[in-house]
Amino acid sequence: MTSTGVVAFVLMMRVAAVLLAAPSGVAGGSDGLLHIPSSESLAHCPSSCGDVEGITYPFGIGPGCFRQGFELTCDNTSEPSKLFLGNTTTTQVLLTDTEITVVKIPTIGFNITMNQSINTYTTSWESPVKGFAILNRTTLLVVGCALKAELFDADTNEMTGSCVTLCLNDTIMEKKAAAGACVGIGCCTVRATRDMRSFRVRLVCLDKASVSDRRLQSRAQVFLPWYSYYRLNVTDLSSNWIDGRSVGNTYLYGTIMEQQTCQSASMNQATYACIANANCMNATNGGYYCSCPDGTSGNPYTSPGCISGFPDSSRATTQKAICKRSCGNTSIPFPFGLEKDCSALKRFQLDCSPQNGLTIHQGLSQWHVANISVNEGYLTITGMLNSQNSSNQALGMAYIGADGRQMGFGDDVLDYLFDIGQYEMKMWWAVFNMTCPTATATQNRATYACRSNSSSCIDVTSSRGNMTIQLGYRCKCKEGFEGNPYIPGGCTGKITLPIHN
Ligand SMILES: *[C@@H]1O[C@H](CO)[C@@H](O)[C@H](O)[C@H]1NC(C)=O
Ligand SMILES: *[C@@H]1O[C@H](CO)[C@@H](O)[C@H](O)[C@H]1NC(C)=O
Ligand SMILES: *[C@@H]1O[C@H](CO)[C@@H](O)[C@H](O)[C@H]1NC(C)=O
Ligand SMILES: *[C@@H]1O[C@H](CO)[C@@H](O)[C@H](O)[C@H]1NC(C)=O
Ligand SMILES: *[C@@H]1O[C@H](CO)[C@@H](O)[C@H](O)[C@H]1NC(C)=O
Ligand SMILES: *[C@@H]1O[C@H](CO)[C@@H](O)[C@H](O)[C@H]1NC(C)=O
Ligand SMILES: *[C@@H]1O[C@H](CO)[C@@H](O)[C@H](O)[C@H]1NC(C)=O
Ligand SMILES: *[C@@H]1O[C@H](CO)[C@@H](O)[C@H](O)[C@H]1NC(C)=O
Ligand SMILES: *[C@@H]1O[C@H](CO)[C@@H](O)[C@H](O)[C@H]1NC(C)=O
Ligand SMILES: *[C@@H]1O[C@H](CO)[C@@H](O)[C@H](O)[C@H]1NC(C)=O
Ligand SMILES: *[C@@H]1O[C@H](CO)[C@@H](O)[C@H](O)[C@H]1NC(C)=O
Ligand SMILES: *[C@@H]1O[C@H](CO)[C@@H](O)[C@H](O)[C@H]1NC(C)=O
Repeated sequence: MTSTGVVAFVLMMRVAAVLLAAPSGVAGGSDGLLHIPSSESLAHCPSSCGDVEGITYPFGIGPGCFRQGFELTCDNTSEPSKLFLGNTTTTQVLLTDTEITVVKIPTIGFNITMNQSINTYTTSWESPVKGFAILNRTTLLVVGCALKAELFDADTNEMTGSCVTLCLNDTIMEKKAAAGACVGIGCCTVRATRDMRSFRVRLVCLDKASVSDRRLQSRAQVFLPWYSYYRLNVTDLSSNWIDGRSVGNTYLYGTIMEQQTCQSASMNQATYACIANANCMNATNGGYYCSCPDGTSGNPYTSPGCISGFPDSSRATTQKAICKRSCGNTSIPFPFGLEKDCSALKRFQLDCSPQNGLTIHQGLSQWHVANISVNEGYLTITGMLNSQNSSNQALGMAYIGADGRQMGFGDDVLDYLFDIGQYEMKMWWAVFNMTCPTATATQNRATYACRSNSSSCIDVTSSRGNMTIQLGYRCKCKEGFEGNPYIPGGCTGKITLPIHN
């Protein structure tokens, strides 16, 4: 338990792990739906629990509200109420996303106390709900000294990867820590290469004699965020328990489990989960999930299903009276909106809450929005939600790829048709991935987003290194006009006469 000195090296296999955030056991799925429900039958279902909003089918709370395997439990005995996966009270859910059937949970973490007479430590995790798995590309982060860490898929017993972390003297460590990355000095990382329903992490203490610095480990901290924000702080190695919230979040995706493949599932229409216009995808570990085809968005599990194109302009006008168009002092112009059906596309739906103010969900990240410049085509953002100190953080955005599941970070955001300026806190948007000539072509006229007669189409591009990528198009009022190009009559003459009282 000391941190110096040479120790007689006894090889012993022992399991000694403290499980912090990972329950085991299997729950849920007892009385979920096995058919596609109508919107009317879901109308009574709660759509929020505490801070979590927008809970939609196949996820649901209470009988008749969820697809088998997608039950959530709202514990309203705490303030605010807490949402849990399945009928557990152990795996808290921070966010759900119906379009890709993913839940965000606090990072899975383990606190491992070392004992000098023990050389190998194994910890393991199993999804608390059948059918949920941690996402491909999840990061294993190990903070500790003189250790080799190995990550195994417990279902297949295959090793996904391994890394080594060494500790040097504090002067050197602090210098390395300033650089931030976890590349083997004080911490190291391994990326998962597949989705895993259960995993095992094995820590092997390195031969002390071969470690130049004699600093020994008395503990190790292990986390499995999908994307790690962690930057080494030397004090974390000895004294501090790292707050998992500063490390990141874990993501689990859900799979329909009654059938092993899309083929077999679609043969029984009575229990097939995907709505007629949705795609079915085989999941990596068996089972299937539904997704909306390219160019459409919506809920692939219930009506109205996947919707394509920009909604009819009349909706923007008729909805005008019902839709809330501000959040605090910030106005929310169409195509953005707060409530369901008040934004042009689901991507443009924002959240307004007393706790967080105005926010936008992009993929699996949530951002604070300070202002919307509808005619200029960007949102002014002030940071990421749930991050401890956003100013130190690399700006990145989780995104969902075309196949509905492949996700990336940072530059990959382009797939979501939003782009973040690297040095300015601006999030640029494109309405659709089309060039202006295509968008204005006769056959696309019905879904053309620029509704004001005095508006025009602008191509949105993004620069990555020396490459320029076509992101799509957006709308802008014509020269001499300003206002909102997305609504009929939205652009008005810039030159206004002085008002005389
Ligand atoms: C929780 O799930 C288990 C297993 O499916 C079931 O037996 C139990 O009744 C459920 N409990 C509640 C409160 O729904
Ligand atoms: C919690 O939820 C139950 C069932 O929905 C309800 O009966 C109860 O009044 C709620 N309690 C609180 C404190 O909101
Ligand atoms: C983690 O383990 C260390 C001992 O190795 C202990 O001092 C600390 O309190 C533990 N932290 C948590 C959060 O359990
Ligand atoms: C270390 O492990 C040995 C063998 O299991 C045990 O006897 C001893 O009490 C442990 N020491 C500490 C400090 O936990
Ligand atoms: C750490 O190592 C460096 C390089 O070997 C050495 O110059 C420095 O004095 C050492 N610092 C301490 C506190 O041991
Ligand atoms: C996991 O992600 C990596 C990197 O994107 C990809 O190469 C690999 O094929 C994925 N694995 C599976 C099983 O989808
Ligand atoms: C490291 O952690 C300690 C204790 O939490 C804190 O006081 C210190 O500012 C941190 N150092 C850096 C460089 O963040
Ligand atoms: C799903 O897997 C089955 C069996 O491996 C295969 O025949 C089928 O084409 C796959 N379907 C899709 C949509 O990938
Ligand atoms: C709204 O603006 C007024 C005046 O600029 C300011 O005093 C107030 O604090 C703002 N309210 C919010 C919620 O930002
Ligand atoms: C917000 O955006 C509007 C429209 O572009 C602009 O007029 C206004 O000055 C902006 N407000 C702030 C605080 O940036
Ligand atoms: C937009 O579509 C073009 C052509 O289909 C494609 O090459 C490009 O990668 C797409 N861009 C994004 C951001 O998806
Ligand atoms: C763009 O940059 C890459 C790598 O920096 C380089 O290999 C390539 O030649 C450059 N392309 C052009 C057109 O300058």
